Amino acid sequence: MLCDKLGRELRDLRISVTDRCNFRCFFCMPPDREITFLKREDLLTYEEIREVVDMLTKLGVKKIRLTGGEPLVRTHIENLIKMISSMKQIKDIALTTNGYLLSKKIGDLKSAGLMRITISLPTLREDKFASIVGKNLSLREVLEGIKSAKEVGFKSVKINTTVVRNVNDDEILDLAEFCRKHDLILRFIEYMDVGTLNSWQREKVVSAEEILEKLRQKYKLEEIEREHKSETALKFRYTDTGQEIGIIASVTKPFCRNCNRLRLSAEGKLYPCLFSNKGLDIKSLIRNSVGRDYILQIVKSFWEEREDRYSEIREIISSKNTHRVEMFRVGG
Ligand code: GTP
Ligand code: SF4
Ligand code: SF4
Repeated sequence: MLCDKLGRELRDLRISVTDRCNFRCFFCMPPDREITFLKREDLLTYEEIREVVDMLTKLGVKKIRLTGGEPLVRTHIENLIKMISSMKQIKDIALTTNGYLLSKKIGDLKSAGLMRITISLPTLREDKFASIVGKNLSLREVLEGIKSAKEVGFKSVKINTTVVRNVNDDEILDLAEFCRKHDLILRFIEYMDVGTLNSWQREKVVSAEEILEKLRQKYKLEEIEREHKSETALKFRYTDTGQEIGIIASVTKPFCRNCNRLRLSAEGKLYPCLFSNKGLDIKSLIRNSVGRDYILQIVKSFWEEREDRYSEIREIISSKNTHRVEMFRVGG
């Protein structure tokens, strides 16, 4: 078992397959900011990603989440899913998407072996949607995507909503009702200071406590145990329907102590934390034909040296940590 300096076992790998996205959400890549995207040749190929995953399974990785940018804008993502889902050491393969292209891709994703799917849904209001996602696009496509995920038979489809004060905090109950009605697992996410572009301010964070208080005005909830201690969300159950709802409270209730996630960026760097400012360039090692055993040794030491716990020490280090990796490069 490979553990880092805080005794955390390596288990999950989040893979950003592209830094590009069809949205320009203000909390990730604001439309008024100039962004230089990676060139095609700088992206890891699917074969290279497979190689990295295969190596990491030797160090304990069992769970894969594909992210972006927006993973569905990368051509034939289902080919990568097929490659990974056929590895017997991989017990879980999931994907996080903004949902816009989902209804067209859902069949291919399912038949390629994708096991779970999470869709981001920032609002239920068409008039607000464009201003949040920074593009003149319709919310209808995302709702179609969600519907298609249920129709094709994905179990426990999750919905992620980052709550930002004065943006969508007035929709907490509407979103809860929507997810109850359509049997979706909603997770509210506290607004985080991820990347360097989102002009994050503490006042814009709606805390887990506030969210819960709002929910409890209408519903009876009981807290339930995390299935695995490394899970991001605090979990609750509606006592009337038994459905689940979660809150990802990275700001007010950090979960670094059990964080077993390594991240692979689209350009082929491994990051030990969502808020890291430097990564291990595994792409160069692979492209320079460095021996596999040697690469494994380097990654092993990289994890063993890990002591990141940004969310726990945010107040102390956030102003010093100004070079952290952008969310769309490392996959949220
Ligand atoms: P499950 O495997 O279904 O539990 O999903 P997940 O919560 O691990 O993944 P998802 O992509 O749905 O993540 C939800 C949100 O949680 C992301 O948008 C991130 O904002 C946040 N998140 C995920 N992992 C971490 C983490 O390690 N640290 C912090 N601070 N936030 C994280
Ligand atoms: Fe795209 Fe997600 Fe970033 Fe929005 S938050 S711009 S959907 S990658
Ligand atoms: Fe893990 Fe870093 Fe998130 Fe803490 S802040 S949970 S160490 S990724």
